[in-house]
Amino acid sequence: MQERIAILKKKFKELYPEGGSPLLVAGPGRINIIGEHVDYAGGLVLPSAVDREILLAASNRKDNKIKIFSLDYNESFESSLDRLKFCGKKRWANYLQGVFYFLQEKGLKLNGVNIAFSGNIPQGGGLSSSAALEVGTCYAARLLNGFILSDLELVKLCQKAENNFVGVMCGIMDQFASALSKKGNLLLLDCRDLEYQLIPADFSGIAIVLADTKKERTLAGSEYNLRREQLAKAAGLLGKPLRDVSSKEFEALKGKLDEVSRKRAKHVIYEIERTKNAAEALIKKDMPELGRLLYETHESLRTDYEVSCRELDIMVEIASRSKGVIGSRMMGGGFGGCTLTLVRKENVEELQEKIMKEYPKRAGKKTEVWVCNLAGGARTVY
Ligand code: GLA
Repeated sequence: MQERIAILKKKFKELYPEGGSPLLVAGPGRINIIGEHVDYAGGLVLPSAVDREILLAASNRKDNKIKIFSLDYNESFESSLDRLKFCGKKRWANYLQGVFYFLQEKGLKLNGVNIAFSGNIPQGGGLSSSAALEVGTCYAARLLNGFILSDLELVKLCQKAENNFVGVMCGIMDQFASALSKKGNLLLLDCRDLEYQLIPADFSGIAIVLADTKKERTLAGSEYNLRREQLAKAAGLLGKPLRDVSSKEFEALKGKLDEVSRKRAKHVIYEIERTKNAAEALIKKDMPELGRLLYETHESLRTDYEVSCRELDIMVEIASRSKGVIGSRMMGGGFGGCTLTLVRKENVEELQEKIMKEYPKRAGKKTEVWVCNLAGGARTVY
């Protein structure tokens, strides 16, 4: 961490010699224990921020220019606050531009800004580096400009930037977790009214392991938006929001639905119930039950929601045969990215070795496997 900060500060000074001493903020990535593909249907999710984050160094400018440098892409981007527009070439810049755009749309007055940033969240790994960048940017802008914006407004604004500037119709889970997580807890977030409860993340001797399929998520955007449309259709046919349909009711009404609508609605309705049950299992420290629910979620995402892929299925299958594993599933939007596995701490190495050995042979791709630590939301480093 100290080393990353030193590199970032050095680069900042080099790029903006008259930029003074910058503010340093961190926007973390997130995991989600359970509650997948339900946030945009007003469902329940159980995410937390993790200790992989984007660090942003930023200082005010006297003019209205925005100068941004990404250390990871080794690219710079320049524009001004009255000329913010989508950039097709340097897509990463849109996450920051989108935040500035919607802050101004709210009537807030912004100073020009110098920014340099770098991250250690695996790109395309399903840990939401995009939300981390939006939340980090908004957090820095709030501090640098001194305006009042509640945390909840910040979260909503970042989601709006992603929906309406970047053009990805994501739900609110990622931005919420990146901004509002409290270290040592999971957020049981109700995405309908945005009420949340902190669930102590006491995993009693169990580690959370992430394994990256390294599969490019080319389908993620288009299929994601299609799922949203399919859910809207299913809700229309059922005559009410899926959030208000219990699994019992669904079983009685499912004859009204065509096959695709039935499968999509089934995932969402049962996943919301699984998330409730998982939170209870965690509180009771019933780890086998939590693990069972994770496997069920994977099956549902694979067969009913159809957002898994060969690589994710292979990864889950390998984990399921490894000693001490209590549950495993694909995590995030799907079509690639990481799996999340709960494994007894004493069996972590065995799991890592097994995946490193078997996955490349079976999937024809490299992988990275690491133990993930939960963390708090966005913060000022100094
Ligand atoms: C992506 C989106 C989230 C959520 C997940 C699936 O990460 O950004 O809003 O929908 O997929 O649970």
